[in-house]
Amino acid sequence: MKYGRIVGWGKCAPHKVLTNFDLEKMVDTSDEWIVTRTGIRERHIAGEGETTASLSVTAARQALERAGLQPADLDLILVATSSPDYLLPPVSSIIQDRLGAKCGAFMVTAGCTGFVYALATAQQFIASGAYRHVLVVGAEVISPAVDWTDRNTCVLFGDGAGAVVLKASEEPTGVLSFVLGSDGSGAKHLWMPAGGVARPPTHETVDRREHTIQMNGREVFKFATRVLASAAVEAVEKAGLTMDEIDLLIPHQANARIIELAARQLGLPMEKVFVNIDRYGNTSAASIPIALVEAIEQGYVKENSTVVMVGFGAGLTWAAAVVKMGVFTQPRYALWRTIPSRARTRARVAVGALQMRAGALLLPLYARVTKR
Ligand code: ACO
Repeated sequence: MKYGRIVGWGKCAPHKVLTNFDLEKMVDTSDEWIVTRTGIRERHIAGEGETTASLSVTAARQALERAGLQPADLDLILVATSSPDYLLPPVSSIIQDRLGAKCGAFMVTAGCTGFVYALATAQQFIASGAYRHVLVVGAEVISPAVDWTDRNTCVLFGDGAGAVVLKASEEPTGVLSFVLGSDGSGAKHLWMPAGGVARPPTHETVDRREHTIQMNGREVFKFATRVLASAAVEAVEKAGLTMDEIDLLIPHQANARIIELAARQLGLPMEKVFVNIDRYGNTSAASIPIALVEAIEQGYVKENSTVVMVGFGAGLTWAAAVVKMGVFTQPRYALWRTIPSRARTRARVAVGALQMRAGALLLPLYARVTKR
């Protein structure tokens, strides 16, 4: 059995920050309402030239550097997103090309749950022995799909990207268990009515703002509180663990009240629950990887920590994964790693051949000196 140990991590958020006070000037809302109902204080919004691909590439480069790997070392790239740069080509290929990787790449779309789906998928490629290094990105530039005149939704969302690199390992680390769920009967509680083939774009669909996110907040709230805790419990049981053995819960950052409710249902104190929604809002598929990176940077996730990642979102979908972190090795041989992997292999072969030739030359000399 091969495990996919998380050896690299990175994140990227657009420079522009939109605060609740900025939103007060745009729609009939208040900082007080947004903070008490959602926990959000500010969010990052993509500016000129910032797209899902560009944020992903920055996050991925950080993750690769942390892992001490080059893009050429990657065997596969998975990108969880609902906001690709274009409908075609898949944004995963744009990211692969910009990174300079020479491997397969595809998108995983499961709303805000996408990153956990992608992580579980990556683990399968490693467990089967097919691949050694897999990059998993969760990224969204969701702001263009937000109706900035609708106070019910526009206060919630933000843009960003997070990425991890999984490396094949014999140690039982990485994704120990996972649960994936879907209930399409609730699809219209969170959707974009137009833009797909069922309702292609027309002047009429644009005028009616049907290319923006439409959400029944109360239904999504009820759904989230139904699935978050139960998915986390199921994943923990599947891993053969108990909740007491979990060091940190990293939930999808959609609403602080949903997170607090899930923590109560799970019997977890809030010190064991990572929350950064105040500074990012809901970044959809990017929220869990961004939270993971911040949790590591801030020392909440340490070497050998066991964490539960749990998400919910459009679909409706939900997913949970129990992830064991390994030892945080420092990136070694940084200069050596800057050489492309094929050249490194040639250099290793050449050194090996030299060693053999030197051995063949020195052995008779050694025998003569020692008179054997
Ligand atoms: N500012 C001020 N008032 C507001 C705002 C706002 N930004 N938004 C709504 N209101 C009003 C409503 O109009 C309503 O007024 P009314 O009673 O006069 O009709 C009142 O506040 C209460 O509305 P509720 O919908 O009951 O508010 P609630 O406490 O449920 O909070 C919220 C709304 C924050 C949307 C909540 O329901 C929620 O977080 N739901 C889950 C959403 C979610 O997680 N979505 C992401 C899913 S992940 C993905 O895949 C993208």
